[in-house]
Amino acid sequence: MAMASVQQFVNEIRALYAADADPVEVWPKAKGPMARLLADPELAASSKDWPVSNHENLLFYEDPDYGFVVNGLIKDAGQKTRIHDHAHIWVLYGVLTRSEEIVRYERTDDRSVPDRAEIRQTARDPVAPGAMDIVEPYAIHAEVAGIAGSVAVIMRSAKPGGFNQGRYDLETGRYWESPGVSQIPWPLA
Ligand SMILES: [Fe+2]
Repeated sequence: MAMASVQQFVNEIRALYAADADPVEVWPKAKGPMARLLADPELAASSKDWPVSNHENLLFYEDPDYGFVVNGLIKDAGQKTRIHDHAHIWVLYGVLTRSEEIVRYERTDDRSVPDRAEIRQTARDPVAPGAMDIVEPYAIHAEVAGIAGSVAVIMRSAKPGGFNQGRYDLETGRYWESPGVSQIPWPLA
């Protein structure tokens, strides 16, 4: 039996999907359930045992009918993700404890040259516990953990790993693709 707050979250998201399975409809409405999940002190307490990961996410839940997953991501102090997009999937990112910055970019080239992508930074948003961010398909971003690291709970419309996502090098303009984060099954008891 999963932790009560996680089970409640899953139940609420499944109800949203049952009403209209289009992520355009589900994602804004998922912020309420995510806010309640992030406010659960039992979940925050259990996160003290979650391992720091680099290119992996903890897999708390995968929905057998709608395919969405609930992940955990724990970063060390100052740890950064590469600049990336999530391809076609929708993501709702929630900060559970500690803090980080979400850095956003926009693409400025005409996409005519393979393996090249000119990008420029458009925002750098500090986020604290309870903060949520809807990451739309192909949105270019990176996350930088704060001085105490960060702990995030993430809902994705599909499990990463089985398809390529975009990667960007700001300095050289190189663009390439590779599979997303691998998944470590981590049932929350
Ligand atoms: Fe991301």
